[in-house]
Amino acid sequence: MAERVRVLLSEEEVDARIKEIGEQISRDYAGKQVHLLCVLKGGSFFMCELAKRITVPVSLDFMSVSSYGSSTKSSGVVKIVKDLDEPLKDKDVIIVEDIVDSGRTLSYLMEMMRDRGPRSLKLCTLLDKPERRVVDVKVDYTGFQIPDEFVVGYGLDYDQRYRNLPYIGVVEFDG
Ligand code: IMP
Ligand code: MG
Repeated sequence: MAERVRVLLSEEEVDARIKEIGEQISRDYAGKQVHLLCVLKGGSFFMCELAKRITVPVSLDFMSVSSYGSSTKSSGVVKIVKDLDEPLKDKDVIIVEDIVDSGRTLSYLMEMMRDRGPRSLKLCTLLDKPERRVVDVKVDYTGFQIPDEFVVGYGLDYDQRYRNLPYIGVVEFDG
């Protein structure tokens, strides 16, 4: 079965939108330092591009989580596979994610991070599939709202492949 990737959001569209979000964050955090939390691996491409567009001081940290349950349906119970290096106490924190789907992973993660006492905590996602939402989660910065299709690229994978595509695409199968 042959696989093709149909472009949903071009490299130019994605880059332009990330620049806008970076500018918005720079305005919202004027006079402050922003601490970006990258959720590996998917959030890494977005976070690097976003961080380059933010003009207030930025610090970064990384975490890796896995959700219990099947690979296609997250249970909402998140296991920390790699924890952050730094405490969040009194920091202005933004969690940077690739996509919010059911919202289970992010709502759990937000609660967990809130317990660590940041001064503020916001959520920034490149993509949002609102139709798929099961758990309510407040997204502060959204790149694009997209329909309920399985997408790859810009950090998002299909079976660990396609993360490196510089655009967002939909995997299609022929035959
Ligand atoms: P949630 O807990 O259902 O919101 O799960 C979000 C996670 O599922 C994301 O961080 C992705 O790793 C994965 N995911 C959801 N939708 C897609 C998709 O369209 N392509 C690739 N990964 C996805
Ligand atoms: Mg993810």
